[in-house]
Parts: sequence; structure tokens; C-alpha cells
Amino acid sequence: MIGVFDSGLGGLTVLRALVARFPQVPFLYLGDQANVPYGDRSSPEVLELTRQGVETLFGAGCKLALLGCNTATAVSARHLQQKWLPTSRWRGEHNVLGIVAPTVEAATQTPWAVSTPQYPQKYNTDLIAVFGTTRTITSGVYPDEIRKRCPKVTVVQQVCARLAGAIEEKAPEDELDALVVEGVQGMLDQTGGVPPHRAILGCTHFPLVEHLFRRHLPPFARILSQPEVVADSLEDYLARHPRYMGEERGSRLILTTTGDPAEASARARVFWPEVGAFERSAAVAR
Ligand code: DGL
Repeated sequence: MIGVFDSGLGGLTVLRALVARFPQVPFLYLGDQANVPYGDRSSPEVLELTRQGVETLFGAGCKLALLGCNTATAVSARHLQQKWLPTSRWRGEHNVLGIVAPTVEAATQTPWAVSTPQYPQKYNTDLIAVFGTTRTITSGVYPDEIRKRCPKVTVVQQVCARLAGAIEEKAPEDELDALVVEGVQGMLDQTGGVPPHRAILGCTHFPLVEHLFRRHLPPFARILSQPEVVADSLEDYLARHPRYMGEERGSRLILTTTGDPAEASARARVFWPEVGAFERSAAVAR
């Protein structure tokens, strides 16, 4: 069983792509709705909540925990992988993956195995725009990871602070459109009107308004579909590490929340209309 952790329900956009890609792999989803949103929280808070979420997934039998949230990944992935996991009781058999590295690998066309910039990426002078929550953007993880692979690329970051909340609240289309326009305009103000070659929608909620970003970005600006990119990357990872799929096979999907399961089940349909019912996370029930 593979665990997918998110601050709330946005990670369902990623989970949906994973379930479609790996129909025989059981998944356990944990949404920390009791503490959502993470986008405005401090880094230590996000780190601690994410660590607890990963422990819950490991405790439930997952050997692999995917942080299906940009904010949780931006703040916590490196720390959990390099500092926490090797000293925890889960060391050896378990692993934590995030969704920023696969997105950056796709945006820069640089596979994971390339650790130093090489031709042609080394000479890439594209402009890449990143849209995300306040915490994801202030973490600087996207520009850091992009420049490691493409040092000459220009990265422009834009906080879209209210967009994730508005999507989750099912705000009307014109309201969402105005928030996307605000984000795109904020990004263009930073570049002096120069449009990006690529746009990373660096928040799990934003695929739901990709059509609005498409409307307001120039046709040549490629928008990366993060759920697809993460599914591609996990496929590659599992081919190299099949043991993380576990022994079990079957289309089992367990959806858990630290919040109210009835509310989560109702809201989840914004992200995935056919999604099943949520149950209370074992960590909360304990
Ligand atoms: N899932 C989060 C992300 O991808 C957005 C929601 C939040 O702020 O918690 O950034």
C-alpha cells in the first residue's frame, strides 16, 4: 500500500492520477483537514504536521509516503528524507517522496539521474513561472531546484494566496478567473510584461483552474500538469523500487481525514466527482 499525504483535499488531484495510472496498487490517502490550510502556516508547523502525517501512513502499513502537497513538500521533504527518516524507527524499509522534484525534472527536462547541469539544459535561458501558496513560494524550493539543473533559467515566482481556498469553497467561475488574472498579472508585473515559456502550477488545487491559466497565459507558454508528471515519476520510481508497491494487489483505495469525514467526503467531489467516502484517520481515532 502506498500512502499519499496532503494538507487537505487538494492532493486528490494527484491521487486521482495515481489511481488511474496504477489500478492494481492499493493507496491510503490522508488529508490533514483538521489543520488545513498549510499555505499560511510557519515552516516549523508545516514540518511537524507533515512528519505526523507520514508517521500515520507508516503506522498504517505504508512503506512509501508520497507528499501529495506542494507546501508540505517544499518545507518538509528534504528534512524528512535526509534528517528525520535515517534516525527514526522507520529507517531502512520506508521512504518519503515529494512532488516538487518530479515537477522540476519535467519543467527543466532533466531526469533525476542528472545531478550536475549538462548540455543542453546548462545553456537553457527560458523564463519559468511558478504559481503557489505563500509558504511554497517563500520556501524558494522551486527556483533552487530549477537552477541546480538549469542555472541560466530565469524563475519568476508568484503567490496566489487566495486561489486554493476559493477553489475549495467552490467559488463561482468569475471569482476564480479574477484571482487567476491577479496572479498572472502579478507575475507579468515582475517580468516587465515578458511572458513565460513554461508555467508550473505549484499547488495541488490549481489543476482545477488550469483552463483559466490557459486563457490568460500566451498560447506558447507550456503549463505543466503536475498530477500527470507525478504519476510519470512514480512509475519510473516503482520500476526501480518495486518493493514499495507492497505484496497486496487490488484496486483498494482508503480515504482518511483528520477532520470531519462527512465534510471531507462532500468537499472531495470538487476535486474528484466520483471519489468514495472518507473515514476518520486512525491517528485521530486513537
Ligand atoms: N495542497 C496545498 C499545496 O499543494 C495547498 C493547500 C494548503 O495551503 O494547505 O500547496
